[in-house]
Amino acid sequence: MIEQIESFLKEAEKYKITSALELEEFRLKYLSKKGLLNTLFEEFKTVTLEKKKDFGKKLNDLKTYTSDKYQNFKESLDSTSEGLKTDLSLTGEAIKLGTRHPVSIIRNEVVSIFERLGFTVSEGPEIEDDWHVFSALNFPLEHPARDMQDTFFIQKTPDILLRTHTSSVQVRVMENTQPPIRMIMPGRVFRNEAISARSHCMFHQVEGLFIAEKVSFADLKQTLLFFAKEMFGSETEIRLRPSFFPFTEPSAEMDISCNCKGKGCNLCKYTGWLEILGCGMVDPNVLDFCGIDSTKYTGFAFGMGIERIALLKYQVKDIRIYFENDVRFLNQFKPSI
Ligand code: DAH
Repeated sequence: MIEQIESFLKEAEKYKITSALELEEFRLKYLSKKGLLNTLFEEFKTVTLEKKKDFGKKLNDLKTYTSDKYQNFKESLDSTSEGLKTDLSLTGEAIKLGTRHPVSIIRNEVVSIFERLGFTVSEGPEIEDDWHVFSALNFPLEHPARDMQDTFFIQKTPDILLRTHTSSVQVRVMENTQPPIRMIMPGRVFRNEAISARSHCMFHQVEGLFIAEKVSFADLKQTLLFFAKEMFGSETEIRLRPSFFPFTEPSAEMDISCNCKGKGCNLCKYTGWLEILGCGMVDPNVLDFCGIDSTKYTGFAFGMGIERIALLKYQVKDIRIYFENDVRFLNQFKPSI
């Protein structure tokens, strides 16, 4: 038995190691869990008492020799070219960066354009009450938007619901701030609608509000013209069409000129114009409901759908793709700012 260990020692002395691979083979043979040394230590347990001392000594010699040989060679390898793998000063492997979601890109662009005009950002809750989504915004009791068909109700009497538009944040801002108010309010909204290429039950809006003394419709028009040119290019023209919203008087819908320059294309359905947002002068009733003196202050508001802008800007015709999170789609978008 003892002779056998001696021959193992001789063999280990002769063992030639010239590469990292051979070093690993050496470790596996002698020092690993299933290696020779562990097997011999197992046998050691069964050796008779009088032989234990000699056997133990030889075994320790073999262990010391093989571990030292392994350690020494490993150190010399680390300092040669083969050991470059562990050179900590080398440049790391490139990490693949993700991209921003197109909805976030558009949201950030809209916010940044209005920030340049002095607007600040405000946010409100997605779960709201009837007052902030409808009543304070001058919606008559029988208005269809209050209907179960359009709104996701969480609780009836008192009504708790998912906000159907970000106009609710206007109310929260006006209730808590006195003019001048210049705010932009991005957020997620929910509507009880069948999901199709053109509509979804969940989407994003950006709301804008400007309240001060002597704010006029001309201010609204100039602000939105600036926005349209920044967002869609300096050649862009706007058109305001009369419309109706309970919370603004007068109300309008804004179109931007289509890139086909009036020639007519599929995107603008041969009209030369694309509808982009709703706006108007804040109804004095709304100011009064929110504790702002409507005899002293006037203001304008507007609201736009982010997915709608993304649809026009990127010419992606199906809104559902924005919520599928397919990386092959998402990878194509890079922020321009
Ligand atoms: N809240 C409207 C919607 O969801 C959009 C809107 C229109 C907001 C006119 C406004 C506005 O602030 O003045 O369709």
